[in-house]
Amino acid sequence: MPGLEKRIVIAAIVFVFAVTGLIAISVRSFGIGLPTCLTDVRPFRESKVIQQGPKRYEVHYVSQMWNFEPADLAVEPGSTVDLYLSTKDVTHGMQIVGTNVNLMAVPGAVNYARVKFDKPGDYLVVCNEYCGVAHHNMAARIHVSNEAVAAAAAAAAALKGPSPGQQLLDQNGCTACHSIDGTASTAPTFKGLYGSKRTLADGSTVTADDEYLLQSIEMPEAKVVKGFDAMPPLPVSPEDARKMVEFIKGLR
Ligand code: CUA
Repeated sequence: MPGLEKRIVIAAIVFVFAVTGLIAISVRSFGIGLPTCLTDVRPFRESKVIQQGPKRYEVHYVSQMWNFEPADLAVEPGSTVDLYLSTKDVTHGMQIVGTNVNLMAVPGAVNYARVKFDKPGDYLVVCNEYCGVAHHNMAARIHVSNEAVAAAAAAAAALKGPSPGQQLLDQNGCTACHSIDGTASTAPTFKGLYGSKRTLADGSTVTADDEYLLQSIEMPEAKVVKGFDAMPPLPVSPEDARKMVEFIKGLR
């Protein structure tokens, strides 16, 4: 083989190994993965957000002309999110600006990517496959902040309505005298009650723990807080009293 050809063959072999090495380095050191099409997951038509643990989420994104569901997602900074993407109609793209997530939503398929959100902020999610007249309006947002997570949790709780414990306190008339927001009334407020030190009429102090709260519901005259009158005993089952205490616990 003439010298020039030999050198070209050697250069080609070196090049192939160099490129393979670079791919291996980017996968191992920079977490760059190839977008994956999942063949064992059936395409879904409902979006879903599943919290698998602290800072671990699985999110099923559904794309359709011309939006993504969920349109707003809130996660804590440092969260790892497994994204599954499906489409209800035509092919869409899904790019999360500021990350290396760039997936295609292909009819009949589910695509997957994992992303870790280290930096707090609002991440824009855009469609980058032309999908019709409003393609340029197709977007969603991922809010990476503790405040956004708290706001989303509060909104979800408001949708669900009052907890069983709160309903029982309302039905039995407790909240007519005991406020839940710290407002002073004819009885001590429930806000911040749990775990606090109570001074009783005889000058002794107790900690408002589970036992104290249950006793105060079942035998109110046993320990009366200084400056207040004993309330009449409540005819509630021990099970209901527990639910009430659980709710009061949450009013920090
Ligand atoms: Cu969806 Cu472009």
